[in-house]
Amino acid sequence: MSDRYCVFGNPVGHSKSPLIHAAFAAQCGQDLSYEALLAPLDGFAASVRAFVAADGRGANVTVPFKEEAFHLADRLTVRAELAAAVNTLRFDGAGILGDNTDGAGLLRDLSVNLAYSLAGKRVLLLGAGGAARGVIAPLLDHRPGLLVIANRNVARAQDLAQRFTTLAGGLVPRACGYPELAGQSFDLVINATSASLAGALPPLPVAAGFFAPASLAYDMMYGQGDTPFLALARKQGAARLADGLGMLVEQAAEAFHFWRGVRPDSAPVIAALRATSGPGRDG
Ligand code: ATR
Repeated sequence: MSDRYCVFGNPVGHSKSPLIHAAFAAQCGQDLSYEALLAPLDGFAASVRAFVAADGRGANVTVPFKEEAFHLADRLTVRAELAAAVNTLRFDGAGILGDNTDGAGLLRDLSVNLAYSLAGKRVLLLGAGGAARGVIAPLLDHRPGLLVIANRNVARAQDLAQRFTTLAGGLVPRACGYPELAGQSFDLVINATSASLAGALPPLPVAAGFFAPASLAYDMMYGQGDTPFLALARKQGAARLADGLGMLVEQAAEAFHFWRGVRPDSAPVIAALRATSGPGRDG
């Protein structure tokens, strides 16, 4: 029998993870099956345990269970511990191992697919929820010159900046609300808010120069055509735009590697999805 994997979410019907992992398995000659499983909102742990009992080998976890998965895991990788969220589980004799591949996925998309170097750059991260938290440590690892975390609820941004201050190796992330961004200029602006999912825009006080020359605007959401954030960035003169499809495939490639020990080639999978994708975010 093939080794069994799945993604747990609620809702989960929209997930592209089964397609992505089927493509990786075919490419790498790995004998595995991968399905989308709807876990009841109050039944995530029971669903995971049932899957383990049915010989499941690993799982991805998407909205809204990433924090619950963090608490459910018996052991955590360092990056999952830092993110305080888990999107990948591995089941072996020693119990449930939790990992978080979202940050690695973003950084691989930025550094490899988009050939974007973060060193010395002025980086603005929009949002202070789970999606933002998962990418802060890997962003700091790449030594930007400045990292600002902006959020409507400023206290949440301050908590995050505080949490990652000791990690920063000299760079202290700054936290602020949207109005304080007026008059500033950034090389890389990453939208990690869930605003795009509702077709909304974070209240950015953009004016000429907000997107620096040669700047990159990155939305963790993806879809056909520009997301609202990318449409704004285009209008305001951002030099490059990227949506979250590359991050989606790269976090999956990282999970596949965590489970199987082989790294698939993400490029053909990104290209195939690019041709067919509707809007979405995450697994
Ligand atoms: P996720 O796991 O997707 O990050 P979350 O933890 O609920 O979900 O966080 C959602 C993030 O999107 C938060 O930063 C939220 O801002 P607040 O903390 O101020 O609520 C942000 N967000 C959601 N809708 C937004 C909008 N219309 N404009 C700006 N920020 C928004």
